[in-house]
This record gives sequence, structure tokens and C-alpha cells, in this order.
Amino acid sequence: MKADVVLLPGDGIGPEIIAQARRVMEAVAKRFGHEFGFSEHLLGGCAIDRTGVAMPDETLQACLAADAVLLGAVGGPKWDDPTAAVRPEQGLLGLRKGLGLFANLRPVSVHPSLKAASPIKEDRLEGVDILVVRELTGGLYFGRPQMREEIAGGVRAVDTLEYTDAEIRRVVRLAFELATGRRRHVTSVDKANVLESSRLWRQVAQEVSLDFPDVTIEHQLVDAAAMRLVTNPSAFDVMVTENLFGDILTDEASVLSGSLGMLPSASLGAGGPGLYEPIHGSAPDIAGKGIANPLGMIASTALLLRYSLGLRTEAEAIESAVHAAVADGARTADLGIFRPT
Ligand code: IPM
Ligand code: MG
Repeated sequence: MKADVVLLPGDGIGPEIIAQARRVMEAVAKRFGHEFGFSEHLLGGCAIDRTGVAMPDETLQACLAADAVLLGAVGGPKWDDPTAAVRPEQGLLGLRKGLGLFANLRPVSVHPSLKAASPIKEDRLEGVDILVVRELTGGLYFGRPQMREEIAGGVRAVDTLEYTDAEIRRVVRLAFELATGRRRHVTSVDKANVLESSRLWRQVAQEVSLDFPDVTIEHQLVDAAAMRLVTNPSAFDVMVTENLFGDILTDEASVLSGSLGMLPSASLGAGGPGLYEPIHGSAPDIAGKGIANPLGMIASTALLLRYSLGLRTEAEAIESAVHAAVADGARTADLGIFRPT
């Protein structure tokens, strides 16, 4: 198979982990007889430095024309001034929106030999296999108005949490479809006791569930879900939730796997190229030292092969290789960070 993959190394540790992902994809191409073409483009802080904007139009056009996009990470202290008009994260959000990627899949599992790297008691980690489906192009991240204004005696800042029924339906439907290939249980996470958008979310999720009689649905409030993620994580199969809730819950869930550096993600939309990136950030404190954990990034290439190119065997080959490397004792420093030193 021939496929064009856009690489967006980004900032911090992004370039070094993307380089490892590319090596893995090249090895897959060689072993399975595929032709993967790679082209690198600017996104994030590096794009701001070179072009003045976080997502140059040229980058978006290249991504739209590709079969899939692989992204390292964006951001760093250099661009963190809260009053700056351009921010690296705008590039990432613009790309997600520009590619119409409304669903972010974040699988969470625990490698048996990494149980000790998690601060959670080992018996709680037994059987953990969660797929978080995070809504990615709506909610608080994109609601308008988003602004700041002077008011008498101070300043007022506003963010807006809004969802349409159509936005909720498409992501919940995808979560149900994915659940049919798993343990057939969906936990829809909301804050329906407080938020109107969550009451709509719950209602639409309930409606969608009627089309999937073989899949059980459960509604859970986000605060309770956050607690259950560490007290009884194996109770979850597929979890589907609003953009910001999903952002927060997946960092929490990464603690189960031993490190934020372990987890991959796939962002999918209605048919265009998918975007694949680890869930961690640009880790500027360790950038350039060659010590970053590349496994979340490498596991993201497996998701790329599976979801964008339909190469299941190849995806499984990468996942087995990651598994074997970890079983063999391959470790980066982050796999100890939760342990008291
Ligand atoms: C993530 C990240 C991003 C997000 C940031 C970098 C904008 O935290 O992918 O989880 O909040 O979506
Ligand atoms: Mg995040």
C-alpha cells in the first residue's frame, strides 16, 4: 500500500519522539512491503517563531491532502505568556477543528510489568482496559464568547460551554459502535446535576443507546467518574465525554498505565485524514536530552495504521513490539516518577 503521512514534530520533545515513530513506520513499510511517504510541516511554537502563526495555512492544506497526520507535541514556556495573542495550542485546536476531528480515542491499558510504576494498588489495576472517547471539537474549548473585559473595579473573563444535539450524537454513536467490538458497556460522563449542556448530553446519549440493544449504557457524573477511575478502574469499558472532562480524565487515567508517556491517541472525523498523537505534552524540561518516553508516540503509529490505513496486522505488530520491549525491561525515567524517591 502507498500512503502519504504528514509529520508535525512541533515543540519540546516532539521532534525526538516523532523521529522514533518514523523509524517504526519505516520498519513496518520494509517488513510488510508498503510505501509510506513522509513530509514535515510546522505547527505550534516552532510555527509561531517561523511564520507568526501557530498553524500556517500551508500546514492545514498539507494535512487535508494526506492520508494521515502524526503529531509530536506543541507548546513550551517560551510561548506561555498569558497575554500573548498567538499561542502554540491554537495550532493544535485549529488543526483538530480544521480537519473536523470530533472524536478523540484514548485507549488506556496497563502493562503487567509496569503495575509497580503506578501509584495505584496493584490489585486495582487487574483487568484495566478502557477506551476513552473524548469529544474534540466542541464544548468549552470552542464555545463563544471566549473573552476578557474590564469591568468596574476589575476584570471579567468568559468561556462558553455549548453543544448541539448533533455534536453529541455523532460522538456518542461512535462510542457505541466501538463498544460493540469490545465488552459492550458505555459509560457516558457528564455533569447533568448542574449543567444544561450535560442534561442535553445525557438525553441524547440515552436516545443513541436505543439503537444498540446489545450495549449497556450507564450515566455517571464526572466527579464520581474521576473517583472511580482510581478506585475501580476495571469497571469501565468505553467512556464517552465532553471535551474538557475528557482532557482531565485521560491525564488521570494515564496514572493507571504507569506514565503519561505511555498513552497514544487517535482523532477521527467523518472520513478525512485522522490525526495521531500521544496524549502527553511537549515536556520542555527534558527536551533534547534523549530521555523522553517514545512509547505513547509509537503506539500512536499503531492507531494510525489501524484506523486510517486499515492495516490491522501491522498495527498489532507494533503493539506487540512495544509490549515485548516493556516486558524486556525497556524503561525511561518517567516510569518511575510516581514513586517516592
Ligand atoms: C491534550 C492536550 C491539549 C488539550 C492541549 C495541549 C491544548 O492537553 O491533547 O490532551 O487540552 O487538548
Ligand atoms: Mg490533555
